Amino acid sequence: MDKLIIEGPSKLSGTVKISRAKNAYLPILAAVLLNDKPVHLKNLPELRDIRTMLTLLQNLGVRIDQRDNVTTLDPSNLSNHMATYELVKTMRASIFVLGPLLARLGKARVSLPGGCAIGTRPIDIHLENLKKMGAEIIIEAGYVEATKRNLQAVHLPLKFPSVGATENLMMAAVFTPGTTVIENAAREPEIEDLANFINAMGGKVEGAGTSKIQITGVNELREVEYEAIGDRIEAATYVMAALMTKSEVKVVGINPIHLEFVIDTLRSMGANIDTDENSIHVKPSELKPAKIETQPYPGFPTDVQAQMMALCCVIPGNSMITEAIFENRFMHVPELTRLGAKIELKGNTAFIEGVEELSAAPVMCTDLRASAALVVAAITAKGRSEISRVYHIDRGYERLDQKLAGLGVRVQRTNE
Ligand code: UD1
Repeated sequence: MDKLIIEGPSKLSGTVKISRAKNAYLPILAAVLLNDKPVHLKNLPELRDIRTMLTLLQNLGVRIDQRDNVTTLDPSNLSNHMATYELVKTMRASIFVLGPLLARLGKARVSLPGGCAIGTRPIDIHLENLKKMGAEIIIEAGYVEATKRNLQAVHLPLKFPSVGATENLMMAAVFTPGTTVIENAAREPEIEDLANFINAMGGKVEGAGTSKIQITGVNELREVEYEAIGDRIEAATYVMAALMTKSEVKVVGINPIHLEFVIDTLRSMGANIDTDENSIHVKPSELKPAKIETQPYPGFPTDVQAQMMALCCVIPGNSMITEAIFENRFMHVPELTRLGAKIELKGNTAFIEGVEELSAAPVMCTDLRASAALVVAAITAKGRSEISRVYHIDRGYERLDQKLAGLGVRVQRTNE
């Protein structure tokens, strides 16, 4: 199993190019199943989750051809409608195939995802609203069996703006005659990107990015080429690394509006950050402590909570971070403590007392974003940190070690 060895503290300098967003491409890849014509996707990131989704699509009968930076997917002959437990257990986002399979084939059999490191993560919002659309849903032997009984255009007020449920329902409704309306929809930029992709294929989705999304049924889709938005979570991670090390770094390939809340929060803490339409420029800054609560978009993203906590660990004074989206998303706390951080947990709030310096230690990755927090902390910590279970990072950060090395971090990947 790969490990990262990081020698800190490092100053960072230069420019880092952000990859296309994993959380945009995962639902877009699932939405390919809606089409019966080829789809060409540009710059799919080289990530474990993306490879898992490609394997899942192949199992369903999609032909995949990779040339340079374009991946062509031909979904004209779907031969299967089942997402097995073996795949779903490695990646919860496999549940995204439920909506499009139902819309295209009228049937889907998808393993229940089960819990994960950050919480129980039910899919009740996906299922209860598919039922409202007229799908028959049976749970049997750990699988969701969904059958279309003429999906109907209905109003779907979500009890919580779930990102995945909004995406699944949007895809399920693409061919439904009439206009399906999702209310209290999630507003994340990746949802708007999925809508743009569906519309580029000839679908009709309006309002994505607001809490009311309207999907008007179309009869067929067309061949398309598409490129997803930049990864705002990856970008935020590099911004945190720059601020923690009081470095000057330019993060390019990202629309800063997608990180508006994070950037505004950091500026209110004293961060010296400039933006243009495609980049974020971080300069050395003296920061004040933070008081943050994660919220659905456009609030502070839960996917940046761990990295933000790492930053707070080295800001003099007392910071407070409340996690309001997932019930168990503090797995990084004991590991950050091993690096010398002072953090006390009370319920879903972490109280952080800034220390002057973190110190190197062996630490272990537990989930994707927790791992990112450990990496940025290790860059700041004095000495040689060994980060194990790097496969968590490889799910979501493309060429992390190379990108960090490009910024001047002394980092090495080993599998000893
Ligand atoms: C997506 C992101 C993930 C991010 C999360 C919140 C992808 C592939 N993943 O995950 O990185 O952390 O949004 O921004 O895009 N919930 C229910 N019932 C449901 C669905 C969700 O109770 O049917 C709860 C979840 O347990 C969780 C909260 O709602 O507590 C948010 O989940 P959701 O927005 O659905 O996140 P995901 O789509 O799983």
